[in-house]
Order: sequence, then C-alpha cells, then structure tokens
Amino acid sequence: MLRRLHPDQPASFAFTPANQAWAEAQITKYPEGRQASAIIPLLWRAQEQEGWLTRPAIEHVAEMLGLAHIRALEVATFYFMFQLQPVGSVAHLQICGTTTCMICGAEDLIAVCRDKIAPKAHQLSADGKFSWEEVECLGACANAPMAQIGKDYYEDLTAAKLAHIIDEMAAGRVPTPGPQNGRYASEPAGGLTSLKDHEAGRDVLNTSARLAVDLGDTIKRIDGTEVPLLAPWGKQSGSDVAVAERATRTPDPRPSAGKPADRTGVTEQAAQAEATARPTHEAVPGAAPEAEPERLIAPRAGTAADDLKKISGVGPKLEGLLNEMGFWHFDQIAAWTPEQVAWVDARLQFKGRIERDDWIGQAASLAGSR
Ligand code: FES
Repeated sequence: MLRRLHPDQPASFAFTPANQAWAEAQITKYPEGRQASAIIPLLWRAQEQEGWLTRPAIEHVAEMLGLAHIRALEVATFYFMFQLQPVGSVAHLQICGTTTCMICGAEDLIAVCRDKIAPKAHQLSADGKFSWEEVECLGACANAPMAQIGKDYYEDLTAAKLAHIIDEMAAGRVPTPGPQNGRYASEPAGGLTSLKDHEAGRDVLNTSARLAVDLGDTIKRIDGTEVPLLAPWGKQSGSDVAVAERATRTPDPRPSAGKPADRTGVTEQAAQAEATARPTHEAVPGAAPEAEPERLIAPRAGTAADDLKKISGVGPKLEGLLNEMGFWHFDQIAAWTPEQVAWVDARLQFKGRIERDDWIGQAASLAGSR
C-alpha cells in the first residue's frame, strides 16, 4: 500500500506544554550526536496528541531533532503505526487479521467495521467519529480475535461484542477493555488448571484493564494529563514525578554526556579508548615523557605473553589494549613507578583504576608465582 501524506493538512503543529517537556526529555536519553534516535517516540507522541500524524507535526519533530524534513518523512511513511490521514474523532479501530485472529473470526469483526463505520479501511464514518483498519498480529493471539482501540486491547471478541463496543463509544460511554468473554487474561477458556493459588483475592480485572477503567478513558489518553510522563533518567529522587515538573529541575548527569557518537553507531568510546591506548611516542598530556614505562613490541624472545587477564579487572579487550601498548608480562607492570602508572592510566582514561585495583601488587605476585 502506498503511504502518502494526506492532501488536507493543518497549517501548523505544536506540542502541548506537557508533551513538549516530555519530548525534550526524551531527546536527553541519547548520546551527543544521536538525538535523532528520539524520532519514533516524538512522532508517536505527536500522533497521540493529534490523533494522526500531520505534515506540520512531522516537520516540527524533524526540526526539534535537527533533521532534514525528508528524514522524518521517511520514518513516518515507513511505519504503519503512524496514521497519515485523519482518524475517527472518537476512536480508530485496529482489527488484527493475522492467522490466529482470522481463524477465530477476524473477518466477522472486519464486516462489523465495514457495516458500522465505513466500507473501506482508513475511511471516516459518516459522523466522523470512527475509522478502522486491518493490522498484522498484535501479539495477543491467545485471546483471538482481538482489536486494539486507542491504547487498549479488546480481546476474545465476537461480532456482536465489537458492535456493542462501538455503540458504547459512540454514546460517550467507556467500555471495559481486556478479554470480553469473562477471562481474566489468557488462561485456558475453561479456567485455570494449575497455579490456582493466584486466583484467590485477585482483582476482577487484569492490571491493564484496571488501569484503563480507573483512568476512565480507554480511548484517547493522549493529552499529557492522563498518566505521568516520566523521564526517570533525569530523576532527583526515587519518586515518580511528571516530566513537566522535572523540566524545571537540574537533571542528573547522564552516562552518555559528552560522549560523541561514531559514524558506525558501534561505540565511539571504545574506538577512542583504543586509539588513545595505541602505542605512540607522542607525549600524553599531564605525563612527562620520561614517565613512559618499558614497552615491548612483542613478548620477550623465547617467552610467551603472560595471561594479563589474571589481573583482576583485566578482561580480554583490555588485555589486547595492553599488548598493543607494549605490555606483555607481569613483571613489566609490576615495575611501573607511580609516574608510569599515571602515564598508562591517562592513556587508558582509567581515572585511577590501576591504583584502585592494585595492578602493581597483583602483577608482582603473579610474576613471582610464575
Ligand atoms: S494473530 Fe491476532 S493477535 Fe496475533
């Protein structure tokens, strides 16, 4: 199916203040240079706010992320979860049509949608309240056939039950999501056959259905006030605080802060550490040239390299770096002076780890026991 932008577009888009704060917080998740990774959550939030993804919204998100508009358009037009045309003002129904649901009656559900909403997918109903589409497996196959409406799953459906749900929504009432045949979750239709202890004292609704019912809106929980919008990496304490409130606080430093991303998306940090650790004869800032320890281009003649991984804190990768730097033997490391420790530490960007882990003592003891 061709996915094109709708011909009728609004003039502009802006996030609500809460959504804007949430979106800005999402961007801080990613390392320097990787902010574009926030594109899907931001596009999704824009869709949740507006109901569908408008061109101004796509462009707004692109600008927030410093991307060319075409890059955001590529993402928005690729993923089917993004609605590129207006959807029903009350609800957009996504009917799973994949094998399990199809066998269990998805076609009957689609017939209900054609009858009660519109003959074709993505068409608005005559009153503009509803739209529908057939989607691929939504991962609730044990409760087939099912539909996603808004953020909730309506499971174990029949044509009559779906028709009733649509009528309820049209009348402004709030249907209860989850299994529609009396099941709690996805246990056997005849009831639990094992782990029956868990039946006693539980809520009549499963957690997801309970949340929807407690919120009192199972369709459009999209304006930023329905549930706290959290950015836990910017926390000040263990408590949950809405991101709009957090936006006024100074966030904790992020592990990725100041770490540039590389071209390949692998680990620039690792590449940098390796490059820094590569044997060179350039002076290391803060380390006098005379502090350079004895380095060898290979293990001493007639000997094999020591297994530097025996030093606690040295793994295979670090051992490789040490070898590249010219360190092959325990006695080389055991002989490092404090200045030479600082020289190596600076190159490995270890910030004192050699001393903390007592490499010298460990190496001396390992050299003595060879
Ligand atoms: S086949 Fe419908 S949810 Fe998986």
